[in-house]
Amino acid sequence: MTDFFAPCPRGLEKILESDLDAMGAKDVKATEGGVAFSGDWTLCYRANLESRIASRILWRVKETTFRAEQDIYKAVHELSWHRWFDVSSTIKVSTTAIRCELKSVDFVTLLVKDAVCDRFREHCGERPSVDTFAPDMRINVFIEEDRLMLYLDTSGEALFKRGIRLHTNIAPIRENLAAGILRIAGWKPGIPLLDPMCGSGTFLIEAAQIALNIMPGISRRFAFEKLLNFNQSLWQKLKDGAIAAQLPVQALDIYGSDLYGDAMKTASRNLQETGLLDCVSLKQANILEISAPRDSGIMVANLPYGERMGELEELEELYPRLGDALKKKFSGWTAYLFTADKAILKMMRLSPSKRTPLFNGAIECRLLEYRIVSGSNRPSK
Ligand SMILES: C[S@@+](CC[C@H](N)C(=O)[O-])C[C@H]1O[C@@H](n2cnc3c(N)ncnc32)[C@H](O)[C@@H]1O
Repeated sequence: MTDFFAPCPRGLEKILESDLDAMGAKDVKATEGGVAFSGDWTLCYRANLESRIASRILWRVKETTFRAEQDIYKAVHELSWHRWFDVSSTIKVSTTAIRCELKSVDFVTLLVKDAVCDRFREHCGERPSVDTFAPDMRINVFIEEDRLMLYLDTSGEALFKRGIRLHTNIAPIRENLAAGILRIAGWKPGIPLLDPMCGSGTFLIEAAQIALNIMPGISRRFAFEKLLNFNQSLWQKLKDGAIAAQLPVQALDIYGSDLYGDAMKTASRNLQETGLLDCVSLKQANILEISAPRDSGIMVANLPYGERMGELEELEELYPRLGDALKKKFSGWTAYLFTADKAILKMMRLSPSKRTPLFNGAIECRLLEYRIVSGSNRPSK
């Protein structure tokens, strides 16, 4: 059994916990910002390949307590790094410290890097090079009070980078946050789905991939492929199985629209490049003017907050009218609107039936649920 930790956007820990549990993980425990679990390497490969919610899968190589900085050097130096990866792999060390009295986090990062390099030099006369941009091996140091945890990142690039999407608009939502929102919304393949502010199409691509059983990691590489214990045939078997389980590309009940033509072009290019253009119906339209494509369904949107020139004034016009427009044209639907901006909520003139706190990085956001019925949605006084 190996110990792992999967960080994820705050607010999605419970969903990730149940996913890992379903994959057969042991000792699964959600904490703030992620889920600890244990399992074998098949599970690690599967979690990397299949998890839509995790940001990374970290292998915990050491957990200990320390008093002084030199204890950290010693704990790192003791480990057999050369048994885990080759000296030709480039490395990057990152440190996160909370509630601790260390003077400098950067100094800890240097200390850990030195300890790893010294250990390699003693073993084989050479040391790995540092590459802070695209390292082969990421070493994560996590310090909480006097506890030190060391992780080797088995994912490499963050898992929300699915390996295909190349084009973004101004404010794309992270793929794992979008996938989490679809889960909170209770969307399942077959339920009509509309993103009326689709931007670069993140919700549409996530939903189409879910419907066609396309694993989020099927088109990308992972850091575990560079670990010395990498089991190529096991990995190939998992990938072959995942590809065999994909459904053929087909028209789905998934709809996307956006006010701006350039956003539609970006969404269309991204869907084209992921091979999913035929799955989704796209249309350039103002959210105030669109009609519901079906009698009932789920609407998801990552609300604009005025990134474009002159957009702020437009939004001050848009939000007070949005509630009425939804009530007129979308009764029977449930809308899940995602925003970090409390001012938007005030402008909306529609009371949410549920508010779920979710974090976009460090930014606290809300996912607002509106069960749309024609007429008033204000709570009775
Ligand atoms: C925060 S972005 C959405 C990003 C998207 N979720 C993604 O991942 O790329 C908000 C989008 O709302 C669009 N928008 C702004 N006003 C609109 C309106 N009145 N009707 C429809 N779309 C609108 C903007 O063009 C922008 O693409």
